[in-house]
Amino acid sequence: MERRAPGLQIWFAIVAAAEYNSSQYQDSSSEGGVRVLLHRLGHARRSTLALAALAATLPSALAAAQSHTDGPLRVMLRSALSGEMHADIPAHDSPMGAKYVGAGSCSAVACHGGIQPRSVTRVLQNEYSTWVTSDKHAQAYSSLTGPLGKQIAATLKLGPAEKAPRCLVCHALSVEPALRARDFDLNDGVSCESCHGPASQWLGPHIQANSVHQKMVALGLYDNKNIALRTEKCLTCHLGAPGMSVDHELIAAGHPDLTFELDSFSAVEPPHWIEKTADDQPNTDPLFGTRAWAIGQSVQLQQSLLRLARHAHSGPWPEFSEMDCITCHHALTGPQSWRQKTGFPGHRAGDPPYNLARYALFRHFAAEVDPSLNDELAAATARVSALVTAMSPDRAAVEAAANHAAELAGRMSAEIERTGYDRPRTERLLRAISSDGEAISLDGERTAEQATMTVDSLYIADAKAGAANPATRSAIDGLFKLVSNPSAYNAPQFAAQMHRVHDSLR
Ligand code: HEC
Ligand code: HEC
Ligand code: HEC
Ligand code: HEC
Repeated sequence: MERRAPGLQIWFAIVAAAEYNSSQYQDSSSEGGVRVLLHRLGHARRSTLALAALAATLPSALAAAQSHTDGPLRVMLRSALSGEMHADIPAHDSPMGAKYVGAGSCSAVACHGGIQPRSVTRVLQNEYSTWVTSDKHAQAYSSLTGPLGKQIAATLKLGPAEKAPRCLVCHALSVEPALRARDFDLNDGVSCESCHGPASQWLGPHIQANSVHQKMVALGLYDNKNIALRTEKCLTCHLGAPGMSVDHELIAAGHPDLTFELDSFSAVEPPHWIEKTADDQPNTDPLFGTRAWAIGQSVQLQQSLLRLARHAHSGPWPEFSEMDCITCHHALTGPQSWRQKTGFPGHRAGDPPYNLARYALFRHFAAEVDPSLNDELAAATARVSALVTAMSPDRAAVEAAANHAAELAGRMSAEIERTGYDRPRTERLLRAISSDGEAISLDGERTAEQATMTVDSLYIADAKAGAANPATRSAIDGLFKLVSNPSAYNAPQFAAQMHRVHDSLR
């Protein structure tokens, strides 16, 4: 199968990636929805150039197939780049002296660079091909040299973005020279070890037939099978971590705002893996999506509170990226806007509310899992919200309140991990959230956006478990449309659409 002409190989890569996508996510319209959402968050898509190049070298049929992934372009973009390491980049975690070896060490056809997924081995072995052709992480470095990357760097007077540690921390495997086992290119972008951890110690052992996951973890492999740890890893870049930050200054300069939901983002990535159970068997649970959503939300809540505590601790304050963006960035409509009509519930007219998107949906689930802990969490987040919304100048108070709420969220997270997920629970959750449309809509555009990704994830899980329903599907697509232009966000319209989702469930 592997010995084909290069043109055909590219064809197979495209088709394999497209098929892989559609087989894993039968519900491609939702992936479309998430993509639209991401797109409007400010992404310049570069597929036009790729399509032109592709069309010139391959039959036009390939170009049609290419529209399913936005892939081979990335291969081309990557090969045209060169990068250089620069000093002062914060160190990545390096367990027990383990070092980074670079993505090139994983790409052999016999290892992870196969063209088609294999079924006889424990893993698909085409992970590298999936990443290079369909995963935007492979072009994270080249984004820095593109027009938007240049614009952001110029506005912030950083010099070339591709040399700025402030950008490289998230857009490349940028580790200091002492942590490199051998030379590798920064232009690989966010590559294997950015997520899987430094490979110098487990690279050899992990190919043994009897290799055991936990032993590899002891050698520095990051434990992505643990969904909470996986979410934490994604969030280092998709929310921020110490030394890695997208604040309002970066956003105002043009950086897309960061938003995340584990289940939706994993579908879009797309996954180059098959989910496994704790004993390393393929995970066939159709409700895995509900689990990924719930754990993802709890970790996201905790991490966002820790980020708030960091912002309150140092740097500019109040930090606008912690608040509901659209509260400041909407057009003035008179004579009586829907905001004035609803009377600014919960805060003084004109104050910019804290972005509570990471709790607003999750609370429905948390209340079911542990009501009393959730009461504490609700009180703690309400306090955080009140302080931030009133733009409290007492930074120490905000920091303490955020840290306290983060601690409670961490405890909730541990419980969520131990919880069972079944179809009734998923459906209860879907009902609870969709019947809360009004409150959700008034919580702000960010909450509406999380709610959209959430009902989408829960619905897909439920559909996979046998409850597909075209009316629900199309009502959810309607939600995606309503959040596609945030500045035009309209709470009453969103609430009405959420009602339609709810009605379709009966
Ligand atoms: C080391 C930093 C880093 C980590 C860790 C990381 N990402 Fe990303 N991710 C990025 C960057 C940077 C981009 C933007 C790439 C570009 O320039 O187009 C991105 C883009 C994406 C996109 C594409 C969004 C779009 O516009 O289509 C998805 C989906 C995504 N990441 C999911 C994930 C998931 C799921 C995880 C965890 C399993 C994860 N990421 C971990 C840095 C990271
Ligand atoms: C905290 C991590 C982080 C930092 C720091 C960061 N970025 Fe990003 N960047 C991301 C993520 C994550 C995305 C993808 C967002 C999404 O799709 O949700 C992204 C997306 C982008 C994009 C859009 C890519 C596309 O075409 O889709 C550009 C351009 C960009 N970043 C440039 C920069 C520049 C320039 C800097 C430094 C000034 C920088 N970034 C710093 C995480 C980061
Ligand atoms: C954005 C983060 C991210 C990047 C980049 C990434 N992976 Fe993964 N990978 C994951 C996650 C999450 C999983 C699922 C959890 C698991 O199985 O460990 C996974 C799973 C895998 C698996 C399956 C493991 C198993 O036991 O089933 C292999 C093999 C793999 N990745 C190889 C690679 C290779 C090779 C690269 C680079 C070409 C790469 N990954 C890049 C996040 C990433
Ligand atoms: C408390 C009010 C406030 C909040 C909340 C806020 N911003 Fe801003 N934003 C501003 C101000 C003020 C400016 C500067 C406007 C100017 O210079 O004309 C700005 C500028 C911007 C710009 C550049 C505008 C332009 O015309 O090019 C962008 C983009 C932006 N913000 C996005 C966001 C996003 C995304 C969020 C949420 C994560 C957010 N803002 C939250 C007040 C806010």
